[in-house]
Amino acid sequence: MSHDPFPTEHPAVVTCGLPYANGDLHIGHLRTYVGGDIYSRALKRLGQETAFVSGSDMHGTPVAVNAEKEGVTPEEFALRHHETYEETFPKFDIEFDNYGHTHDETNTELTSELVRTLEEEGYLYEKEIPIAYDPDADQWLPDRYVEGTCPYCGAHARGDECDEGCGRHLEPGEIEDPESTLTGNPAEYRERSHRFFRVSELQDYLNEFIDRLEGTSNAQNQPREWIEGELQDWCITRDMDWGIDYPGETEDDLVLYVWVDAPIEYIASTKQYSERVGAETFDWEEAWRNDGEIVHIIGRDIIQHHTVFWPAMLRATGYVEPRAVMASGFITLNGKGFSTSRNRAVWADEYLEEGFAPALIRYYLATNGGFQQDVDFSWEKFRDRVNNELVGTVGNFLYRSLLFAYREYEGTPEADLSEEVRDRIEAAIEEFRAGVNDYSVREVGNAAVRLAQFGNEYIQRHEPWKLDDGEEKERVIRDCVQVAKAVCVLFEPVAPSKAERLWADLNEDGDVHAVGVDAALDAPAASFDEPSELFEKIDEERVEELNEKLEARVAETAADEEEDEAESESDEDGSADASDEFEPLLADRIGFKEFQELDLRVAEILDAEGIDGADKLAKLTVDIGVEERQIVAGLKQLHDLSELPGKKVVVVANLEKAELFGVESNGMVLAAGEQADLLTTHGDAEPGTRVR
Ligand code: 2FM
Ligand code: ZN
Repeated sequence: MSHDPFPTEHPAVVTCGLPYANGDLHIGHLRTYVGGDIYSRALKRLGQETAFVSGSDMHGTPVAVNAEKEGVTPEEFALRHHETYEETFPKFDIEFDNYGHTHDETNTELTSELVRTLEEEGYLYEKEIPIAYDPDADQWLPDRYVEGTCPYCGAHARGDECDEGCGRHLEPGEIEDPESTLTGNPAEYRERSHRFFRVSELQDYLNEFIDRLEGTSNAQNQPREWIEGELQDWCITRDMDWGIDYPGETEDDLVLYVWVDAPIEYIASTKQYSERVGAETFDWEEAWRNDGEIVHIIGRDIIQHHTVFWPAMLRATGYVEPRAVMASGFITLNGKGFSTSRNRAVWADEYLEEGFAPALIRYYLATNGGFQQDVDFSWEKFRDRVNNELVGTVGNFLYRSLLFAYREYEGTPEADLSEEVRDRIEAAIEEFRAGVNDYSVREVGNAAVRLAQFGNEYIQRHEPWKLDDGEEKERVIRDCVQVAKAVCVLFEPVAPSKAERLWADLNEDGDVHAVGVDAALDAPAASFDEPSELFEKIDEERVEELNEKLEARVAETAADEEEDEAESESDEDGSADASDEFEPLLADRIGFKEFQELDLRVAEILDAEGIDGADKLAKLTVDIGVEERQIVAGLKQLHDLSELPGKKVVVVANLEKAELFGVESNGMVLAAGEQADLLTTHGDAEPGTRVR
């Protein structure tokens, strides 16, 4: 690995976080894969030898739990989803050099080999720890089979992660007040022997590693807190059948924790690629053992795994450390979280069935914000960006200039390229290069769009339609065709299929996916046919239709669920009893005096913003009459935060202060149920009014 700017002389491996093979893909999932595809294409365009790899994450409790719900084996279940992913990615022009899965032979063997090396190098030991156990189900409860309270931030947490609060990885035995997700009963902790990886021995190394890690700043900043504190060893085994067996003879039926074999697939997938194309084309061992430039592209919820556990494993087994980690923000839909269970999502298949080209969503996801920022998707915003930028700027420039060139010259007139245009294209190439070296997918995409903007301004400034035939007109049109060709070359990573069509329209030879950035300045073909329009406008009615479909689908799913619940309730005891849905009433009564100890106040929300790095938490500023307060609440994915200011709510004003995700929370906002339906007032009680 080097820290030289790209392109370097070493082979690069760009990886995308492995999707769990356990559900359908929606456009929110695509952000990482689109980002990875654009980034690896851009690297290749700069002349960097690159392998782009990923695979499906087949093991772990996320897959086992869902397979059980469907009544099929985890293997059958995961393979089915793996095959769907394998077919879906290319439909979005996401073209991995290799896409494997964690249950295949390459990964299984490589994983066993790495674990044996850890053992030989003295990094593993055995220890008795408390493991959650469900006595009714007579079963151990690994990871997602147990829920409870996060010991670090107090949020509700499941299994091995605090995904509603501080985002930390939780070790077995850490979760407080454990409950079995199998029966809903409290779980017991029972002692059990497991294997541990001495990550703590690598603390100094990890500290230095983080200092030199490149990529998005969240990937460097977030782990500091974990690494600078006392690093815990990591339990790498689980009591399950589904997974890769712990290598060698063990008394118990232990499999490896999913987070051991999942990242190893990055190496296994590269190995499969080498085996397919030959080591002279791409040598996986040189990349992973010697001096590769490893760039991981992930969602920000798995930063800890990629900046602590994974580099520790690589270091301990003699593999190359990652050069960069690019961690993306999350995607919301109309300001709220995607919800697969509520069908509140734009599904990948659905997007394609609507006839939208992959380039549109690729462009939207790549350039709507910085890679680490959260991005909101709505059909309105999608339409605006397509109509204004892809149709209005890029498409408009390409079509008007190429049509004019075709009509007047049936191609590119013979003239020298002007200095101004050469300089501008060179500047665009530099912007593109800087985008790659700044790990900014957005800048890579914007380099081409800004060039097209310049093209529009240039043609408008020179008005070739007003010029008489002759040198000046020829030069202006040659300039415009050159800019069109450069836009094609620089926009290929974002819009590969569109670039292919434009390349053909420009009558260019060769493969647009294989040319380097310098091709942007090569002379365009002397003749070409009438060009086609690259992008189409999306009209208002279409957006309305799409929104109606989405709303209808969400409502239908909710109705189906209610029906199913009612059916299963009546199945259970022969009569449908709606009150079964609610928690039982508490038996212990409290006195009025105790109730009076709660200081409940009417409050007005003044400001609401998401907390960076937390999936569900929002920071609210509320006016409680006597003062303004800052309160942290789990509303981020359930409400459109921009609509909250001005709303009246009820807060518990005398709750002890707490710190959630490093942010002080001074009170609690009352809300009902899983959807956090906010309590408000019926009349016009002023902020500060006591609620009794
Ligand atoms: O969080 C997830 O969805 C995991 N399946 C990601 C694994 S990425 C890697 F390290 F393999
Ligand atoms: Zn937590």
